[in-house]
Amino acid sequence: MSGHNVWTHKGTFLLAAVGSAVGLGNLWRFPYLTGENGGGAFILVYALTIFAVGIPILIAEIMLGRTSRQSPIMGMRHLTKTHGTSRAWETIGWLGAASAFLILSFYSVIAGWAIHYTWLMLTGSLVGADAQTIGTGFDALLASPGLMTLYHTLFIAASALIVGMGIHKGIESGLRIMMPALFGILLVVLAYSVVNGDVGAAASFLFTFNIADLSLEGWLQAMGQSFFTLSLGMGAIMAYGAYMPSNVSLTRTAFAVALVDTAVAMVAGLAIFALVFGAGLETGQGPGLMFVTLPLAFAEMPFGALVGGVFFILVLGAALSSAISLIEPVAAFLVERFDMTRPQAVTIMVIAAWAMGLLTVVSFNVWAEGTIFHTLFGRSAFEFIELLTNIFMPVGGLLIALFAGWALTQSEVMKELGSSVTWFKVWRFLVRFVAPAAVAFVFLRTLPLVEG
Ligand code: PHE
Ligand code: NA
Repeated sequence: MSGHNVWTHKGTFLLAAVGSAVGLGNLWRFPYLTGENGGGAFILVYALTIFAVGIPILIAEIMLGRTSRQSPIMGMRHLTKTHGTSRAWETIGWLGAASAFLILSFYSVIAGWAIHYTWLMLTGSLVGADAQTIGTGFDALLASPGLMTLYHTLFIAASALIVGMGIHKGIESGLRIMMPALFGILLVVLAYSVVNGDVGAAASFLFTFNIADLSLEGWLQAMGQSFFTLSLGMGAIMAYGAYMPSNVSLTRTAFAVALVDTAVAMVAGLAIFALVFGAGLETGQGPGLMFVTLPLAFAEMPFGALVGGVFFILVLGAALSSAISLIEPVAAFLVERFDMTRPQAVTIMVIAAWAMGLLTVVSFNVWAEGTIFHTLFGRSAFEFIELLTNIFMPVGGLLIALFAGWALTQSEVMKELGSSVTWFKVWRFLVRFVAPAAVAFVFLRTLPLVEG
């Protein structure tokens, strides 16, 4: 293909992939899942999946994007044609698009909560507030579909604006400003938590392993989280990979993305639990950990309003840089397939995801119980959508591993990997056997759960 889009700089893919990877998954979901699942044991399963399964699949997914040079759906169509394999592999693209759409729908609602808290923090409204006041405040936010919809709309519109401006003017320039600022803020928050919190308690909570602490659902959540946190199995990485110059090292880039993402999760976990333990609060608060427990910790600490406000800006920026990577694969598909303009494609994707997000909004209030989701699946629409993505992402990743491992030819892969024969063999063994076996193992373990 001539004249396809390529990132402006050699390092832009890394920047974009880190922007996609680092997000609510690291700052909000990782700490609260760890807190709910007893700490170290959860982290053990999570970390093993990242390194044995996540990184090899990350490499495979970038490879599929870069060799096809198209959006995930069209790219997979192209690859199945050139390799004479079944068109069923296109499922990778479609499953990815479906997951991107589902994730964006709830991601934007949760990010919207961070808008609310940035405001509360910076106006000093929570200074000196007690547990009851802060808890009631969060409940009031959840009880208000109108307010949640407003924030959801603001957030998704901001993401749409960036993607609508194109991969160079929008995505690249946006990330070049946002990402360095985010790392700076994270370090400030870490330093603050070391001074004001209990880092020792946080470290022993995070790194004490007792595998018996991990429930069945915990296993699925740990694996789902390791795919979620690396943005795997849903086309985001494939779409960005399509713009990656051919002379950038796949292997090195993939390791860098995984390392930075894991480091951010660990630093965020340490900082958050240090503040939580320092204030004598509970860890197992679920999704409210960041929005109730953390503001409470900040409320009692010196300069808490300022640092808390800055922290929620960090959350927003990280969420924004991930949300744009959820829009890109579907938008790029609409542009390629239906010849739409980029703004048209982005608008369609975002309006659909916005509407879907209303299901998450009402899951916390008017549809909090007694809906069809509760009857059929024993959970709210939001929890059901999350469960679906916890299943779709590993399945998508599994198919990516199998396609890259078995359908791509050896010479092609050698060329893309651009590394030693030994690493080629290790990688191929991992995607052919280890990754599929690991995903199958966790699914078999959690089957009883999915059946209800
Ligand atoms: N990796 C992002 C996070 O950790 C979430 C995400 C998943 C983004 C899939 C894009 C694609 O928050
Ligand atoms: Na992440």
